[in-house]
Amino acid sequence: MQYIASGSNAARQPSDCVVVGAYTKRGLNSAAEAIDTAAGGYLSKLAKSGDLPGTRGATTLLRNLPGVRAKSVLVVGCGNKSDFCLKQIEAATEAAVRALSNTSVKSISLNLGGNAARFTDSARVASASIAAAHRAMYTFDQLKTSKARSTAKIGKIEFGFSTRAACNKAKAEFKTAHAIAEGVSLAKDLGNLPANICTPDYLAKTSKKFASAYQNVTVQVMGMKDLKRLGMGAFISVTQGADRPPRLIVMRYKGAAAKEAPVALVGKGITFDTGGISLKSPAAMDEMKYDMCGAGAVIGAFKTVAMLQPKLNLVAVVAACENMPSGNATRPGDIVTTMAGHTVEILNTDAEGRLILCDALTYTKKFKPKAIIDVATLTGACVIALGEHFSGLMSPHDGLANDLLQSGMQAGDTAWRMPVTEDYQSKLSSNFADFANVGGRPAGATTAACFLWRFMKDQNWAHLDVAGSAWKSGKQKGATGRPVGLLAHYILNQG
Ligand code: BES
Ligand code: MN
Ligand code: ZN
Repeated sequence: MQYIASGSNAARQPSDCVVVGAYTKRGLNSAAEAIDTAAGGYLSKLAKSGDLPGTRGATTLLRNLPGVRAKSVLVVGCGNKSDFCLKQIEAATEAAVRALSNTSVKSISLNLGGNAARFTDSARVASASIAAAHRAMYTFDQLKTSKARSTAKIGKIEFGFSTRAACNKAKAEFKTAHAIAEGVSLAKDLGNLPANICTPDYLAKTSKKFASAYQNVTVQVMGMKDLKRLGMGAFISVTQGADRPPRLIVMRYKGAAAKEAPVALVGKGITFDTGGISLKSPAAMDEMKYDMCGAGAVIGAFKTVAMLQPKLNLVAVVAACENMPSGNATRPGDIVTTMAGHTVEILNTDAEGRLILCDALTYTKKFKPKAIIDVATLTGACVIALGEHFSGLMSPHDGLANDLLQSGMQAGDTAWRMPVTEDYQSKLSSNFADFANVGGRPAGATTAACFLWRFMKDQNWAHLDVAGSAWKSGKQKGATGRPVGLLAHYILNQG
């Protein structure tokens, strides 16, 4: 994809299609006004007769307008002018690119909001628009024998801004925004692939490729023998019912001196979660192929960083296995010993994410990271609490929590802070072991975080529960690639 920022009048933009905005109550945005002037009042006539889209996301394609250089003009409804903000620029961009995906258009000029006085930050407009354009162009048809016809042909995007300074600020964002889009796209592919293809070893092989594709990257892949050697009794208790072997993946990116403490990411990579002996009910169980989306996001964010080569160190650890019932599977009531030495009573084998993560988190401490952030589709309770719009963020560390919230807003990939405090720890008490792996239904997302926190004492740590944000259900079923944007922005802010 090629990106350009230009200050040229919309009527002179050389793309196949020029995209402009219309607000409700017949208002044209400034680029639409420029087209209108060049085309002798063509758009204002349409607006008057009510033939321009005002409602958000609606589009109208006009061809061969007099006085306009581009072959076509796409008018996108932008909703009320007074609430037009970054989120709506994203929505309008996504709608525009979707509308053009089935056409022969190869290059577009986007003029949505860049000229509005309220959006002095063209960098954010550019990065949000690039994310939105990629979202609209993403297809996952690799497993269909006849490829979907809607493969996007757009290879060039021009951004129209009114000043040279705005253009320059936008240009500086292109590389970062593109690398994030690539990371998001990888995370989506990994999520959408079914569990018979995206196995623990598939995640390992995908990660391994980074070592040869990018500079300053090393990747280590460990298996069952290593888990035993490291004493990862909790991780082993989850994988032992599965025939496919587990993988513990360690990706390292070294962009700064060795003495610089790295940022560490840890991802939950359950490639399929049946619940184990505490078997899940059949409804929507197919969606448990997405239970590796934490791992997918960590791998995606790592790719973004490897592409951009910033001056910082990063460690990414992925714990990958399947949670299956079998004659060798863990039974409710079984007690195992974690790598950190605590005994855990497994009261519910479906609370497996925290079991693989606690050992992966303990292992990650050895890199002496300045911050550890784990990402997991950890609890249904988080979906009930937040739905799909926000990832759950739990951290006892205000500085780290605020940095992550901020990065989420920068990326348009937002999180909402939820409690992790000592008040909830007693829920995890066990009559037979140091503690149990479940804490009951109330505050389920928080008690899960409290379980992990027990392994992260004296460590700057945050937990992102992406059970609601990592994929969409229903008609639009598919991975979202979240929270790659949040993670990438956070990491890049450290450089
Ligand atoms: N992967 C699930 C969480 C999940 C469920 C994410 C549904 C998205 C949609 C996790 O392993 C799990 O099963 N958690 C249990 C925990 C409970 C047994 C304490 C849950 O949320 O029901
Ligand atoms: Mn589970
Ligand atoms: Zn799970």
